[in-house]
Order: sequence, then C-alpha cells, then structure tokens
Amino acid sequence: MAGFQSLPGFRDFYPEDFSRRQHIFRVWRQTASAFSFQEYDAPVLEPLELYKTKSGDEIEAQLFSFTDKGGREVSLRPEMTPTVCRMVGAKAGALKRPIKWFSIAEFYRYERAQKGRLRAFSQFNADIFGEPGPEAEIELIALLIQCLAGFGLTKDDFTIRLSDRDLWFFYLEALGFNDAQSRALLTAIDRYEKAGDDAFKVYTEAHGALDAGLKEKVLAFLKIKSLGELEAALAPFKSEKLAARLADWRKVLAGVSAMGLGDFIAVDLSVVRGLAYYTGFVFEAFDRKGDLRALAGGGRYNDLVKKLGGPDLPAVGFAIGDVTTGLLIEQRGLAPAQANAPEVYVVIGGAPERAAAFADIQALRAAGVRVEYPFKELAFGKQFKAASESGAKLALIYGGDELAKGVVKIRDLADRSEREVPRNHIVASVRTELAGG
Ligand code: HAM
Repeated sequence: MAGFQSLPGFRDFYPEDFSRRQHIFRVWRQTASAFSFQEYDAPVLEPLELYKTKSGDEIEAQLFSFTDKGGREVSLRPEMTPTVCRMVGAKAGALKRPIKWFSIAEFYRYERAQKGRLRAFSQFNADIFGEPGPEAEIELIALLIQCLAGFGLTKDDFTIRLSDRDLWFFYLEALGFNDAQSRALLTAIDRYEKAGDDAFKVYTEAHGALDAGLKEKVLAFLKIKSLGELEAALAPFKSEKLAARLADWRKVLAGVSAMGLGDFIAVDLSVVRGLAYYTGFVFEAFDRKGDLRALAGGGRYNDLVKKLGGPDLPAVGFAIGDVTTGLLIEQRGLAPAQANAPEVYVVIGGAPERAAAFADIQALRAAGVRVEYPFKELAFGKQFKAASESGAKLALIYGGDELAKGVVKIRDLADRSEREVPRNHIVASVRTELAGG
C-alpha cells in the first residue's frame, strides 16, 4: 500500500507522545488553577478579518486561510489573542473582575520548517483583562515562571526577558523621533539580534540615513541589562511619561522578587516582540543554553479589545508553546514515565480461577486502581514475565490453592516478597500495598 504521511509540520501523537503532551497540559492546567485562572475554549476556525492587520504582517503571511462553501473568508486560528479579546469584549460588563482566563488549544501557522517550529502546535494562553496597573504583569510573570518550574525546570534552565514597548516609544520620542520613525526603529530592534546592522535597512529605506550619534544611543539602550542601567540612561530626560514607566518597572521587579522569583527575570530591552498589538511591557521566556526558539511570549495589549469592537479594556497576557517546552523537558531528562502503566498485574492459574479474578479485577478498577491481566491462558512463568515488563508494582496471584483458602497472594514485583490477604479485603489490601505498605 502506498503509505500516507501526515502533512509537513503536523504531528501524529502515538501513545508515548500523547502521554508526554498530556503531562505538559496537566502541569499547565494545575498551575493555572493554583493561580485561580478560569478555563475557556473557542472555535478553531474564525473569520479571516479577525487577524487582518491586528496580529501583524508575519502571522498574516502564515495564515491557513480559505473561502468556505458559503463564500466566507475564514482562517484556522494562528493564535488565541484576537479570539479571547472578542469573547471578553462581548461580555465585559457581565464578567466578574479581575478577569483571569486561560486555555490550552491547538494553533496553525504556515511556518518554514525549523527546530522547535511546526505548522500545528499547542499553546497555553493566560490573560488578564481590566487591570491597567503592573499588578497584572506581576501575576502573569509569576504564573509563567511556575508553568515552567512545575516540570522541575529551574532558574538555571530558563529565564524571562522583560522589556517595554511604551518605554521604547517614550525614549525614542525624547530623542526626537516621530511615531512612524519610532515604529520603523522598533522593527529594526526586533531584528537586530539576528540581522545585526542590516536590521536598520527598514528604517533607512523609509526615513533616510540615521544620525550616527542617535544610532549609538538606540544601540546602547538596546543593550541595557539591569534596572540600574535603565535608571542611569533615563536620568538626563525630564519626561513624566518616562518617570511613570520607571515607577511601573520598579513595581514589577519588586513584586516578582518578593515572590522569590527575581532570579528568573532578566531586564533585556532588545525584546520588542513581532506582534503588532503590544503596547507596554513585553516578555519572552528562553532556555538558558539558548539553543531553542522562544518557550513563551507575551505582553500588554491595551488597545486590542477596543479595536475589535469591544469596550476600552486594558489587557495583558502570554502564551507558552508545547513544542519548545517539550524539547527542553526532554533535554533535561524531566519527561515522565508512560502514563496509565498498570499498577497491578493479575496472574491467573487457569480457566476455573478466571471468574474469581474477573470479579476482583472489576472491583479494583472501579476503585481507580490501574489493573492489567492476560487475555489468554498462559503458563505462570510467562505471566510473571509480562507482569515485570508491564511496569506494575504488584502481581496478584489467583491460583487454585489460594482460592480454596479464600485468599489471594500479593507479590511485590520489585523485592519479590509475598504475602497472602483475604479475598474479601482485596481492594483495601492493594491500596495499602500501593501506598507503600
Ligand atoms: P507568540 O510569540 O507568537 O505569541 O507565540 C507564543 C509561543 O508559542 C512561542 O514562544 C512558541 O513557544 C509558541 N509558538 C509560536 N509559533 C509556533 C510554531 N509555529 N511552532 C511551535 N510553537 C510555536 C502569541 O501567540 C501571542 N498571542 C501570545 C499572547 C497571549 N500575547 C498576549 N496574550
């Protein structure tokens, strides 16, 4: 048979892969719940218009879009942010504040194939609506850190790079740049890490040569790596806007430090984020070794709910991807064992013992114990081999002699110790044994 393959950038999830992804989702969901975020979901297919001009050129060029049978221009969702803005905007008045929402969902972008980038991937999205102050950033940065620390990753494994698009705009304004020039410069800054000096072409092509002294100031600002350096760089300017931004920076960094998470944060003004809608703080999570693409990204987007027809509602949020997170967990040896491996393997003497074994198997499973048994009659030796290979902690032995006495033999498969327990106490005995004796 000519074999079919999945499309490039789309994954099959065999049970082992599924189990790894499930572990990631479980940690994210548990963490979001500890932070009291509410879970929501939304359609995978949206009107194309939702993403036009709002997400930014890069995402727009990557849309999986088509015309449906009713002649509608539609697109698979490339991200959650416009959708969640539409949903919150439509009911903002009725929603209990603070609005703290999260989702775990699949997204589609027609990306060039590269390590850590696929065409279908999952994201954990978390967003806070209605809070204009930096308290929302503190909450979200703490959540982002815990969503990664929950796998056993530490400050030696990943870091959050914090930056600020408003601060950049106010700074460039103070240097004398107009709005269009500032936008072109931010695009250059976004590309500077990868492209070096070539990144400034976008600016020079539209606005002419960039004064050497000003360029130096921009590059020096981009290299700022601490609050102290930032304060020093802004000291010469008498701008209220800049002073207010600095106050917010101090609040965010102090809040995150008070939570004991200061070591996870790096001030890094080279992060400006490609997406079009960000307005204030922006942040990205990276692995420390730096050989993976971003783990997560987010920031404040105070204008988007309104742009999509909703009320004027400040918002901030982030998304973590499952692909790079999975690679990092794997690299650090933190992937979990296969899910749903049996805890108990039932060894059955022969046809006459099967009925008694079946009754107890069903009782154990109804009590939530993971139980496996051989479908066919097998020699004891083969059953014990299967029991060890299954990963089960215990074997329950249903032999003719034991059943005649009204008992079952429990064998600890690690140390091979055995003991007999009355059949009518089997569920309680197995539970005690699984809990550690
Ligand atoms: P983003 O930076 O485009 O932001 O994506 C966030 C994360 O999703 C990335 O850091 C990466 O881990 C993962 N990701 C993105 N594209 C791909 C891909 N093609 N393959 C694998 N993983 C990918 C956003 O999507 C914003 N909507 C986040 C946000 C939420 N901002 C505010 N709220």
